[in-house]
Amino acid sequence: MTTSTVVFDPFSDDFFNSPYDTYRRMRDEAPVYYSEKYDFYALTRHADVSAAMKDHVTYSSARGIDLQMVRSNDPVPPLMIMMDPPDHRRMRSLVNKVFTPRAIERQRQTVVTQIDRFLGAVDPENFDVVQDFSALFPVEVITEMLGVPVELRQKVRLLLDKQLAREYGKVEMPEEGIAAGIETGMMYYEVIQEHRANPQDDMITDLINVELDRDGEMTKLDDIEITGFASLLGGAGAETVTKLVGNAIVTFADHPDQWEMMRNDRSLIPNAVEELLRWEAPAQYLVRYSTRDIALHDNIIPANNPVLLCLGSANRDERAFANADSFDITRGRTEAQNLGLGYGIHSCLGAALARMECVIALDKLLDFMPRFEVDRDRLTRVAMTNVVGWHHAPVRVLR
Ligand code: HEM
Repeated sequence: MTTSTVVFDPFSDDFFNSPYDTYRRMRDEAPVYYSEKYDFYALTRHADVSAAMKDHVTYSSARGIDLQMVRSNDPVPPLMIMMDPPDHRRMRSLVNKVFTPRAIERQRQTVVTQIDRFLGAVDPENFDVVQDFSALFPVEVITEMLGVPVELRQKVRLLLDKQLAREYGKVEMPEEGIAAGIETGMMYYEVIQEHRANPQDDMITDLINVELDRDGEMTKLDDIEITGFASLLGGAGAETVTKLVGNAIVTFADHPDQWEMMRNDRSLIPNAVEELLRWEAPAQYLVRYSTRDIALHDNIIPANNPVLLCLGSANRDERAFANADSFDITRGRTEAQNLGLGYGIHSCLGAALARMECVIALDKLLDFMPRFEVDRDRLTRVAMTNVVGWHHAPVRVLR
């Protein structure tokens, strides 16, 4: 077992603000890290994290996706992100075709409309990139696809924020988060009943009508399964893009030359999005549990333990990426797998949508704020499970 003194606490200021020095020490000194405080293992090297993400048999998702769930061993809701094959394959195949690049291309106008709508309303003198913009548009896009009534769409994200929020040093979801989870479930349940009575041209209606083969018998999804789909898509589709766009603006404030380069050559934007996913992955770690004893780097991860796959660290691993600690929007894409959108069977279903939203958002922001500065005194970060990013990112547009 390692003798390193490095401490990794995913519910601490160090993690929320900048875990990268800690990650480096973990990669060098404790590639199989064990947290006594929270009783989990963590992998941080690119080779180990990517191999684990591919090996869903050894690293299972079936006990849930955050530390609280995996540690508790309580039954988990029927969400495909918390399933192993064959259940996962069955569920994912139901929605795969809605999220192909071609199908997502058809959402382009919705994305542009929502981005223009929110950016058109902001005050360039007093603009919080997260609260006035990046928190608002992604949830509108995904909930419109789902068929959530207009008046409930922003509520989806406000309830989600409460479910992800964590107090320092605490793995457990606060009371407010539990209540928000129940409210979200009830809200979707009512929306589903409304769709059952009045079918529409949207995903919730499609999920009501779809039939799937369960052990040779064709069955429909029940209300709980459809609620699961809706809350997973509504959640995953909202929170992460918000974080990526917020992270982008603060990162570019530190690298104004690259903002300028991108402004002059918009064809660099897609590559910039990939680099942002590598540089500061909105989802920093995934939680799995070990289904068997795992021997790795002279350590044993015993069976039935939570294992954090720290993709935020893997993406900064100098063993995989040249100059891993420099932000470079011209970086080639062939060095190593960028893990920012996941890898393996659970890799991001919404990847094409996420990329499109981020590219359009950056393109519009380049026009809106060709030059800008961040008000660093008022920058604040979220304290959430699994994700990192800014809660407030106030900027001033320079003339
Ligand atoms: C920048 C934005 C995004 C990032 C960084 C991101 C990241 C990720 C990651 C890392 C995973 C893997 C989870 C795991 O292995 O346990 C994932 C899965 C997933 N993502 Fe995204 N995501 C983004 C946007 C979206 C969007 C817009 C949607 C829209 C629907 C979405 C839906 C999903 C779903 C449903 C899964 C679970 C897939 C499965 O279990 O098979 N994501 N995402």
